[in-house]
Amino acid sequence: MTFDDQEYLQRYPFIERILISSDEIQLRVRQLGNEISRAYEGSTPIFVCILKGAYPFLADLTRCVSVDHEVDFMAVSSYGGGTQSSGVVKIEKDLKANITDRDIILVEDIIDTGLTIANLMEVLQTRNPRSIRVAALLDKRAARIKDVPLHYAGFEIPKEFVIGYGLDYDEKYRNLPFIGIMKA
Ligand code: IMP
Repeated sequence: MTFDDQEYLQRYPFIERILISSDEIQLRVRQLGNEISRAYEGSTPIFVCILKGAYPFLADLTRCVSVDHEVDFMAVSSYGGGTQSSGVVKIEKDLKANITDRDIILVEDIIDTGLTIANLMEVLQTRNPRSIRVAALLDKRAARIKDVPLHYAGFEIPKEFVIGYGLDYDEKYRNLPFIGIMKA
């Protein structure tokens, strides 16, 4: 845990504990960046950041990638009502890039049920990219409803609600440099 992590804990007493410290995140992100750099040698992939939660991960990850690449952004929302994501995605903000024949790396904060990413991949496949891979900082595998390919996963976490490093509670706490669990 860094001094920063400790300071945030004091400022936000509703955080029960830090699940993954900022040091651990930065180390793992660097490893993923190296892995991606080796895999995409000779290609210029497009990193597609799924807004809003993936923005810190995208920023840190791409700074650890040594191959030329582009970034683009997408925002999606699930619709269908109910408390659980239906997985039917509505595109709120689409890509600028033409992804035909391009290597795409979808960058997500967390894969939970897997419904959002599965549906998003289906939508993007119709645009005929050369390849699509998925990078997610967190993998809440125990919550999975739809089996999805996860090529670059940061950490597997238990089925608990987490905040920080892009993940929000009621649109807040995305700025925390660590992954934390809130008090019940
Ligand atoms: P999925 O379709 O269930 O995989 O939904 C993934 C999305 O749900 C993520 O991109 C997050 O925005 C949100 N999400 C899932 N689990 C959490 C959590 O523990 N904290 C905050 N947001 C979460």
